[in-house]
Amino acid sequence: MNDKHPRRIVIFDTTLRDGEQSPGASMNLNEKLEVAQALAELNVDVIEAGFPIASPGDFEAVRAVAQTVRGPAICGLARCCEEDIDRAWEAVRHSERPRIHVFLATSAIHREHKLKMDKQTIIQRAVEGVRRAAGYCPDVEFSPEDASRTEMDFLCQVVEQAIAAGATTVNIPDTVGYATPAQMATIISTLRNRVPNIDKAVISVHCHNDLGLAVANSLAAVEAGAGQVECTINGLGERAGNCSLEEVVMALRTRADYYHAFTAVNTKRLVPTSRLVAGITGIHVQRNKAIVGQNAFAHEAGIHQDGILKERTTYEIMRPEDVGFTHSDLVLGKHSGRAALANRAKQLGYELTGEQLDAVFRDFKALADKKKEIYDADLIVLIEQQLRAIPETWTFDSYQVSCGTGRIPEVTLKLLRGRQERCAVVAGGDGPIDAVFLAIEQITGIDAICKDFSVHSVTVGKDAQAEVNVQLEYQDRLYRGRGLSTDSVEASAKAFLNAINRIAALHSEAIAQTKTI
Ligand code: KIV
Ligand code: ZN
Repeated sequence: MNDKHPRRIVIFDTTLRDGEQSPGASMNLNEKLEVAQALAELNVDVIEAGFPIASPGDFEAVRAVAQTVRGPAICGLARCCEEDIDRAWEAVRHSERPRIHVFLATSAIHREHKLKMDKQTIIQRAVEGVRRAAGYCPDVEFSPEDASRTEMDFLCQVVEQAIAAGATTVNIPDTVGYATPAQMATIISTLRNRVPNIDKAVISVHCHNDLGLAVANSLAAVEAGAGQVECTINGLGERAGNCSLEEVVMALRTRADYYHAFTAVNTKRLVPTSRLVAGITGIHVQRNKAIVGQNAFAHEAGIHQDGILKERTTYEIMRPEDVGFTHSDLVLGKHSGRAALANRAKQLGYELTGEQLDAVFRDFKALADKKKEIYDADLIVLIEQQLRAIPETWTFDSYQVSCGTGRIPEVTLKLLRGRQERCAVVAGGDGPIDAVFLAIEQITGIDAICKDFSVHSVTVGKDAQAEVNVQLEYQDRLYRGRGLSTDSVEASAKAFLNAINRIAALHSEAIAQTKTI
């Protein structure tokens, strides 16, 4: 498509729904509200806030987003059945612009093996679902799940009937990330050519990234005439994730000459929003991730540096400040004061209260004692850690460990509960970190299963801070924990304790049984 007038592409963000389906990415109500607010500041058009029928927690989160977040349309997902649609409406009804998104699988594989329904029944159910949703609000989206593996004739019939029943957006999901760009473009142009009432609805795409093609497929769909792209911050989502919002938005902006399309996204908020979502979910983007990765604008080769100095556009197709990176990276050191810190935090997009600034400044000074140069990335983790602080039943005090090849590790760990010191001496575990975890469990009396553990260095260099993220399972629920230190064993202890404190906040009876050693 190469129309003269640039087309406005609707950005439908599903970080809080499909993104939250990423293993380990679940968020609590306050975290979802924070992300939804950031998405509104990013100026996305639609926020899919969750799947209200899935759980009471999902319902409450969608309702809270609909009640408080202004600007974007707020959407709730529903299967094509009355109960789901009614619940979705209950959740989104207080939004300024509510949307109900109903879906039903249409491919032969899903019809035969999952739904055990024939084509006629599928059409009937889709029509009934869309009609019910349209009875509640005028903004109704319909998705034929697994559309890219659905027979084209049948897909055209379903889409036509869904539009006739009141769908104002028809979304074409590549549910399993199977499509290729040319194929996606063919699906969209075939729908545009063959569905008689197609001009009554916006065509949307929803691409998964199983083959790493989600962004390419979405762009191919836009080129073929799609008017809405469904995407997530950092490309989060089921399995390998969804189309990454930051990538698709910047591709459309940077190559407006080619796509003749634009979005309303405030691109300067891309990096802060990406960092917020990474901080909340504990799922970090790789350094070389397009647009928002730490290296996305770093020029290492001498020839490149020379070129950039002579003329920026020799090796840069986008300006770092346009996606929300700030210019200088080397920030502060041991002698920097509170005002310099406040100023840098503001440049990085954080408005801190006096109390939050005091706390960050305390942590900053402690870090500056261990680390000579403090970079933006260091500062961001300190700030994020403060902003997401949880009530601390126990605080970390100190540890000592002796270990080595072929030796059972021995650890002495001290925690504080209020002003009281609690100490454990433990010999065991697979290594020093495991021994520290055992000691924490012994002191707190909370036995949790460690389901995930990752260490990531915040900056480079041998004095870089280690950021450890853990996921603990306790009574069938997962709890995230994050810890930071220039010492990776200490960072692990803090991450484990952070997750234990989350458990403690919800299970006070477990604390009552605390063993004191
Ligand atoms: O991937 C998918 O098919 C979905 C639908 C619910 C749109 O997420
Ligand atoms: Zn999906």
